[in-house]
Amino acid sequence: MRSLLLSDLHSNLEAVRATLDRAETLGYDRVLVLGDIVGYGADPNAVVDRLRGLRNLVAIRGNHDKVAAGIEEGEGFNEAARIAAFWTRRALSPDNLAFLRDLPRGPLEFDPGRLLCHGTPLDEDEYLMDENEARRCFEALPFDLCFFGHSHYPGAFVMEGERVVRRPAAGDETIVELTEGHRYLVNPGSVGQPRDRNTKCGFAIYDDRSSTVLLGRIPYAAGAARDKILEAGLPRWLGDRLLVGA
Ligand SMILES: [Fe+2]
Repeated sequence: MRSLLLSDLHSNLEAVRATLDRAETLGYDRVLVLGDIVGYGADPNAVVDRLRGLRNLVAIRGNHDKVAAGIEEGEGFNEAARIAAFWTRRALSPDNLAFLRDLPRGPLEFDPGRLLCHGTPLDEDEYLMDENEARRCFEALPFDLCFFGHSHYPGAFVMEGERVVRRPAAGDETIVELTEGHRYLVNPGSVGQPRDRNTKCGFAIYDDRSSTVLLGRIPYAAGAARDKILEAGLPRWLGDRLLVGA
């Protein structure tokens, strides 16, 4: 079974298109989405529609989905994020709003011992940025493999015996080999708003037969996505950051 992992799509239709095209050539059987489908970008309905049209979709919610769906009011958000979240709430069709409202909270077990979460498996809104936080997650829950998003930084944390090691992604293709007895927290990166000074969309393909995770990057029409953000009257910074991957 090959699973396509998508996180932090953030209403970026150009990025979603490029990523799905690339994934199609690589091949996959199901799609696992780690939340933040909307927020920041100018195409919330088109992105939700595209996801809902995919075969074998499993999705959980992210913090931006919660605010766009009216579950929360974005108290912890910066101003640009809050403006975009409320704009998104107004822009969404009733159907797509209901889809986002009904997304389950992570962690979600998609296979035995394998989880999906947005922030961390302990708290959907927390950022998992370093080995200490990764260790806290490994020690609190008995998973073998957990995919997470939210930070928009692709890479893995691996628990090898007592050691927790960080393995950041590098280049357009990073292969993480899953070793029996080791435990993994893996972030596919962000499809729609990369923040690691790399403008390309991040995604992952998890192959449970070869026990590998491919962390991939693919270029897309970031200029077009940025122009739509400006045309929609959303904060300029949300467009400009796509051009630098920050
Ligand atoms: Fe996000």
